[in-house]
Amino acid sequence: MTTTQPAAQPGTPVSTGRDDRAATPVVAFIGTGRMGGPMAANLARGGFDVRVWDRTVAHAQPLAADGAVVAASPAEAARSAAIVITMLADGAATEQAATGPGGLLDAGPGIIWVQMGTVGVEWTTRLAGIAADRGAVFIDAPVSGSEGPARAGQLVILASGPAQVRDVLAPVFGVLGRDTVWLGPAGNGTKTKLVLNNWLADLAEMTAETLSFARRLGLDPAEVVDLLQSNPLGAPYAVQKARVMLAGDFSPAFALKHALKDAELAAQAAQASGATLTLTSALLPRWRDTAASGHGDDDVAAVYLTA
Ligand SMILES: NC(=O)c1ccc[n+]([C@@H]2O[C@H](COP(=O)([O-])OP(=O)(O)OC[C@H]3O[C@@H](n4cnc5c(N)ncnc54)[C@H](OP(=O)(O)O)[C@@H]3O)[C@@H](O)[C@H]2O)c1
Repeated sequence: MTTTQPAAQPGTPVSTGRDDRAATPVVAFIGTGRMGGPMAANLARGGFDVRVWDRTVAHAQPLAADGAVVAASPAEAARSAAIVITMLADGAATEQAATGPGGLLDAGPGIIWVQMGTVGVEWTTRLAGIAADRGAVFIDAPVSGSEGPARAGQLVILASGPAQVRDVLAPVFGVLGRDTVWLGPAGNGTKTKLVLNNWLADLAEMTAETLSFARRLGLDPAEVVDLLQSNPLGAPYAVQKARVMLAGDFSPAFALKHALKDAELAAQAAQASGATLTLTSALLPRWRDTAASGHGDDDVAAVYLTA
C-alpha cells in the first residue's frame, strides 16, 4: 500500500510508548554518509531534534550547522531519542553500531529502531532478532532513490514492521521521502529493495554492454543513446547512466561497491528461495573485478570501463 506523505509537523508531540521521550520527536541518526548525511540534514532542517553519529566525526560534524547535535557514540545519540535510524554500509557495520561498545541498543528498551541501509535478508532477520531481545521495535525500511532524491527529500521508503508505530513514523518519513510503501512484516522491505536493486544492476550492466557493443561495431554510442531516449526502449535510469558512462565522470551517486553488495545479496536471496537470476550471476564476476581494480568507490556506471 502506498501512503501519501503527510506534511512534517516540526515539534508535533510524538507518542512512542516510551513515556519519558514522548514530549518532542527526538531522532537519532546513525551513519551520515552519502545518503545518511542529507537525510539527517533534512530532518534537522525540518524541525526535528536530531542527534547524529558517524564513525568518521568529520562526516557528522557539518550537520551541526543544520542544528543537529553530534554524539560521541551511537548510544549517546540514541539516549534521549524515541526513534533511531541506521543508514550504514552493510549488516556488519549496522550490528556493530547496535550492539558493539557504545552501541545504540545500550540506550535501553523502548526505542523504535528504523533500519534503512540495504543489508539483505539474512542480516535483517538477525538484526530484527537482536532488536526483539533488547526490547526495541524494529522497522525494516530501506529506501529507493540515490543521493539526489535523498537531498531533495524525495526517497521512496520501503517500510515493513509493526503497524502500531506507523503514525509515529509518518512525520519522519514525510521529511525523508515522497512516498512510504508499507509492505507487511519486517523483512518485506528488504526483500522488495533487493528485487528493485537487482533490476537496477541488470539495467546498468545492459546499458554498459549496449554502449560497448555499439562502439565495437563502429557506431557512435551517443547516437544509440539518443535513439533509446526517443522511444519506449530507453528507461530513464538507463539513459541517465548511459550519458554518465559516455561522459566518463564516475563521481559516485551510488557507489559500485554498494551496487555490487546489493547484487550479491540478491543472488544469495535468490539461491535461498530457489529463484534463478541468470543475468545477475553472469555480471557478478566482472563487477567484482572492476570494484577490486580501484573502481569500488566510483559510481556503478564505472562497469562500462570493463564492458
Ligand atoms: N547511494 C545510494 O544511491 C543508495 C541508495 C539507496 C540505498 N543505499 C544504501 O544505503 C546505505 C548507505 O549508502 P551510502 O551511499 O550512504 O554509503 P556511504 O556514503 O559509503 O556511507 C556508508 C556509511 O556507513 C558507515 N560505515 C561503513 N563501514 C562502517 C563500519 N565498519 N562501522 C561503522 N560505520 C561504517 C560509513 O562511515 P564513514 O563515514 O566513516 O565512512 C558511512 O556512514 C548502503 O547500505 C547502501 O547500499 C544507497
